[in-house]
Amino acid sequence: MRMRKKRRSGERLSALSALFINDGQYKTAFDAERPLRLEIGCGKGDFICALSKKEPDCNYIAMERVDDVIVVAAEKYASSRDLGALDHHGGWRAPDGTVYKGEAWDIPMDMRGNVRFMNCDATQICEIFEEGCLDTVYANFSDPWTKNGYANRRLTHPEFLKRYLRLLKAGGRFCFKTDNVELFEFSLESVQAEPGFCLTFVSRDLHSSERAADNIMTEYERNFSQQGISINCLEAVKK
Ligand SMILES: C[S@@+](CC[C@H](N)C(=O)[O-])C[C@H]1O[C@@H](n2cnc3c(N)ncnc32)[C@H](O)[C@@H]1O
Repeated sequence: MRMRKKRRSGERLSALSALFINDGQYKTAFDAERPLRLEIGCGKGDFICALSKKEPDCNYIAMERVDDVIVVAAEKYASSRDLGALDHHGGWRAPDGTVYKGEAWDIPMDMRGNVRFMNCDATQICEIFEEGCLDTVYANFSDPWTKNGYANRRLTHPEFLKRYLRLLKAGGRFCFKTDNVELFEFSLESVQAEPGFCLTFVSRDLHSSERAADNIMTEYERNFSQQGISINCLEAVKK
């Protein structure tokens, strides 16, 4: 994802660090035990902000490896939950008017809501999560890695699918959307070749499908769809 360099992303990350977790912290990070869903490559957070409000009976982890990007997602989430806003003079302004600039705001647990952010690479997920702990894994508009020799970096490469299977509970879902036809065909083949998954939904034009009304758009999806590009989607369930 190409982005203009965000100034002071470290300072901005630390103000909302209470919404960020590392490694095994997902077990104690939420105020209640609920089914746990993971979005890999959350980008600027439109999808996770909307889904976590629409389906509040789950806990969500938004994973993103680029810190300048995940900080935007965390700030978007915080504003959408009435936790304040960026201050015009820098820092994060909490609802009581306190500005946190470079220091962490210890956000009360009951205000943090049902989303936490993880600034790391998805190659680490099996070291982070316990087997069978996830209800759903989402990968939206992930990088296509179309150059020769990089297919193993695709989030739908057979090695990634094996990781998801290990972490999903029985009946758990893997949901994938992309504009990229080559990546979609590769992903479809990978899922169909994986005996642990049962393919439950395929569309090469999601916005004209029976799921269109329930679909939550990501930033990339809105952009592609405005250009008239069809959105491909698949869903698979762990057997
Ligand atoms: C093309 S953008 C799509 C962003 C968002 N999901 C959307 O649909 O608008 C892909 C995002 O996934 C992140 N990403 C790609 N591979 C990743 C990985 N292995 N682990 C974590 N994040 C990753 C990138 O940094 C980028 O922000």
